[in-house]
Amino acid sequence: IRFEVLTNDGDMRRLEQLCTLKNIFAAQLPKMPRDYISRLVFDRRHVSLAILRDDAVLGGICYRPFRAQRFAEIAFCAITASEQVRGFGTRVMNHLKEHAKRSGILYFLTYADNYAIGYFKKQGFSANVGLPREKWFGFIKDYDGGTLMECYIHPTIDFLN
Ligand code: ACO
Repeated sequence: IRFEVLTNDGDMRRLEQLCTLKNIFAAQLPKMPRDYISRLVFDRRHVSLAILRDDAVLGGICYRPFRAQRFAEIAFCAITASEQVRGFGTRVMNHLKEHAKRSGILYFLTYADNYAIGYFKKQGFSANVGLPREKWFGFIKDYDGGTLMECYIHPTIDFLN
């Protein structure tokens, strides 16, 4: 198992991996319009952290960092159907926390689907948002049907230990 940070930088191999990840998001998040998923995954302000086994993308998390405000919005998070509930979702989130921490991010925000609230709670997210509203309101995409959740990324925790 390995983890790779993917951005749309024009590299063919990374574009293929982003395409696989986009298809996993589309299959696992059927309520999200496919073209919206594609737009964000290939948008250059968004970054994806993918989990791979032998070169095959098993899933990942697509997010957008807001560096000045020191938070990141998680747009999509999914693991391919046959590999769910084996701990990969937790591992990719831990890698994302470590990666974000090293770039100075202090909070993750996400609109969690109702059935994913349990997963996000286990990853340290809470529906009590401590980041002042003026820091995020109008920056992150408003999405009905989801619950806004936050995770504080403690700057001295080693999330990979
Ligand atoms: N509800 C409650 N608990 C859950 C859920 C859930 N939907 N999914 C996983 N868990 C629990 C697991 O039982 C496990 O608990 P444990 O540690 O006590 O055993 C823990 O959360 C972590 O499980 P993992 O095996 O690490 O999770 P997995 O690899 O399956 O990844 C994920 C979780 C990403 C939610 C995956 O199941 C998935 O792709 N689901 C479909 C897509 C989805 O709902 N994505 C999130 C939508 S919201 C968004 O994208 C912003």
